[in-house]
Amino acid sequence: MSKKIQFVTEYEELAWEELPESSQQVMMKARLIAETAYAPYSDFQVGAAIRLTSGEILQSSNQENVSFPVGICAERLVLGYAGANFPEQAVEELAIVAKRKGDEVWASVSPCGLCRQSINEVELRFQKQISILIQKSDGIVIRFSGIRSLLPFKFEDLNG
Ligand code: THU
Repeated sequence: MSKKIQFVTEYEELAWEELPESSQQVMMKARLIAETAYAPYSDFQVGAAIRLTSGEILQSSNQENVSFPVGICAERLVLGYAGANFPEQAVEELAIVAKRKGDEVWASVSPCGLCRQSINEVELRFQKQISILIQKSDGIVIRFSGIRSLLPFKFEDLNG
């Protein structure tokens, strides 16, 4: 007999004041670095910041290319930088924000499939879930406790 299985994806919605100070700091770094986006093709300026176990915060913006697929998302860029320069440090937290060029207000953003897979890889590497914070346009911040909620039934889930 066939069985129907359901996944439940869980996340929290928090007002800015409800975020711990450490998370606010990561969000602020993401907001600042969004200004450096090189996004002449989409005008969508993304900032991503991560907090390492050491407490250090690293950040990057999206960097596009005239050959569109060559462009790289903010979060994949900062995760790659961390992997290369801080190979012993796990990633505790990731914040992602975006703004349309010229806008005063933040735009809602959610990581693409490639970035979700990259975040998953960092969780696998350090055997540690990454708390993911996403800015919404209404000012609310969404918090996922790990990539599982954003990437259910991923590649290695059926192994073993
Ligand atoms: N982008 C990111 O950098 N991160 C995301 O989470 C969503 C999308 C970039 C890719 C591209 O440069 C632009 O935003 C528009 O898709």
